[in-house]
Order: sequence, then C-alpha cells, then structure tokens
Amino acid sequence: KREDAPKPPKEFDDLISTLPLNQDWIPIRLRKYQDFWIPEHSLPDVMAMQQNFQARPDDLFVLSYPKSGTTWLKALAFAIMNRTRYSMADHPLLRSNPHECVLFIQRLFSDGRPSKLEAMPSPRLLGSHLPYPLLPNSMKGSGSRFLYVCRDPKDVFISRWHFNDKMSPDSVEPIPFGKAFDLYCDGVSPYGSIWEHALGYWEESLRRPEKVLFLKYEEMLEEPAGSAKKLAEFMGCPFSPEEEKEGVVEGIIRLCSFDSLSKLAGSMTHKLNTKLPLQTTSFFRKGEAGDWRNHMSEEMARRMDAVTSQKLDGSGLTF
Ligand code: A3P
Repeated sequence: KREDAPKPPKEFDDLISTLPLNQDWIPIRLRKYQDFWIPEHSLPDVMAMQQNFQARPDDLFVLSYPKSGTTWLKALAFAIMNRTRYSMADHPLLRSNPHECVLFIQRLFSDGRPSKLEAMPSPRLLGSHLPYPLLPNSMKGSGSRFLYVCRDPKDVFISRWHFNDKMSPDSVEPIPFGKAFDLYCDGVSPYGSIWEHALGYWEESLRRPEKVLFLKYEEMLEEPAGSAKKLAEFMGCPFSPEEEKEGVVEGIIRLCSFDSLSKLAGSMTHKLNTKLPLQTTSFFRKGEAGDWRNHMSEEMARRMDAVTSQKLDGSGLTF
C-alpha cells in the first residue's frame, strides 16, 4: 500500500511561481531554475530531491539530457547489473518499460515514496535528467558512479520535437518546428541547454574518470558489444571470459535493442506512471543516428553545428 504523498512544501510553489516561464513546448511548461529550463510539473519533486535525497557510495546513476538514449542506457545498465538474477526467458524487461525498471529519483518524491528509496537494497540503480550543477550535494560527494549518455544535438532536437508533437493534445497547435529550433539553440528546452548539460558531465568525467562514464549514443550504436563491456567494467561487474563465450553480452544487447524493446513496449497494455501523457511506446521512434537529415535544412544543420562548436570550444568534447 502506498503511503500518503507528503505535499511538497508551499514554499516550493511560491518560489516556482516567481521563476521565468516558457509555455511554447506544449504540453510542457518550463521554468528557469538555477540557470536551466526545467519542466514546471517536476520542479516540486526536483526541489524535494535536492533537499532530501541521500546518495550512497555504491549507488549507480543513469544520467542524460532527455532524448539522448536514456531508455536504452537504463535497459542496458539494468540488464548488466541483474544478469545473474533473472533468466532471459523471464526478464523484467520483457514486461516492464526500462523506465519502470530504473526509476527517476525525483518521481519517488512526488509519489510520496521516498522511503522506497531507503528500502532499496544496494547497489541502487536510479535515473535523473538533472544537469550536473542541479544534482543534490549528496550525489556529487558520495563517491557513487554516474553513467552519462549524450547524443548529437541535432538528433536530440528531432527526437524531442517528435516526442512533444505526439504528446500535445489534438485541440492545441504543437510547437512549430522553426520556433522549437530557435528556442533549442538558445537553450530554452526541457532540462535547458544541451551543451551546458553535456559539458557539466563531460568536465566531471575528466576530473573523476573512475566515477563518471561519459558515453555517446552514436558509439553505442556502432559498437554495442564494446559499449556493454565498458559499462559492465565501469559498474564493477565485468563480464567473465566464460560469460563472453556463452554469449551473455550478445543476449543482453539483443534484449535491449531498439527492435526488441520497441516491440515489447507495443505489446504492453499497462499505463506508465508519469505526469505527462505518455505510453509505453512513447520512448521508441526510430533509434538511429543522423535522422536530422530527413527533417532539417542544411542551413539549420549548419547553424546548430556552429552553436555546438562555439559552446564546446576548448572542452575536448565533440559530436
Ligand atoms: P529517436 O526519436 O531519434 O528515434 P530517451 O530514451 O532519452 O528519451 O531517448 C529517446 C531516443 O532513443 C529515441 O530516438 C528512441 O527511438 C531512441 N531509443 C530508445 N530505445 C532505444 C534502443 N534500445 N536503442 C537505440 N535507440 C533507442
């Protein structure tokens, strides 16, 4: 039985109502909070999480800018971590969306289930879209490990635009493509500037490479086996030579592949527990690199690449 959700303190609502507002990304309203544009509906949970979340040294976090491959990374990390616990024939990923297997921390605050976090056995595997500067101090200082995935900002933008388009109610005009493009280039999109988001984790991965693994979606597509092995090693549970011989790595890659997860999502009949109008299939569209070519003019692509070069200049991070 669920505990009663403690209401977020009224101070949160009072503060949120004073923050700069953007209403273009229908149905998501954004508020500028600590320099990043955060969906308004999740801000009370974010604030509660910032104040109350206690990280453990052996926690593992899946972190990302939305639409960068979060669902895939959650599935892979979950399957790798629990590979001796579940058989492939009866795996939780066969009946649950990866977002149900690896929960967003802040959602546990809004569901009134923070004690569920306390009760979770170590090592916990949890997710967040928060940019590095907004993470609770306990996460930054706990020694826990971060798995971060980033993706070409052009493909992230295309994925985001479709995602929003699908979510917007029929009665409302969705955000026009050109307007969404301009806002995204200015960092006014859910979870803020993708460049600032990626840079925060990139710099941390340079400072603490043993604690922050920085992955690229495109490299994961190209080298799924290499990426799964890198993940397992970083997570402290490397594949043994026997496991490799028995095809465990390939089994996990197959289970977590776009084809497999999207098909499974299509056959799920339950509703996702989210505050947005999302279905189990909402997180799967094409799962490819370079789809921006089918949607953006060359001029738009050049413009976004120029923003990328300028923002990442001197950081060593490239897309
Ligand atoms: P597209 O919209 O370009 O297809 P997120 O999980 O961060 O919300 O990102 C969603 C994007 O990842 C979508 O991109 C989705 O199709 C893609 N995706 C979801 N599952 C995937 C998987 N198992 N393998 C590769 N891509 C996947």
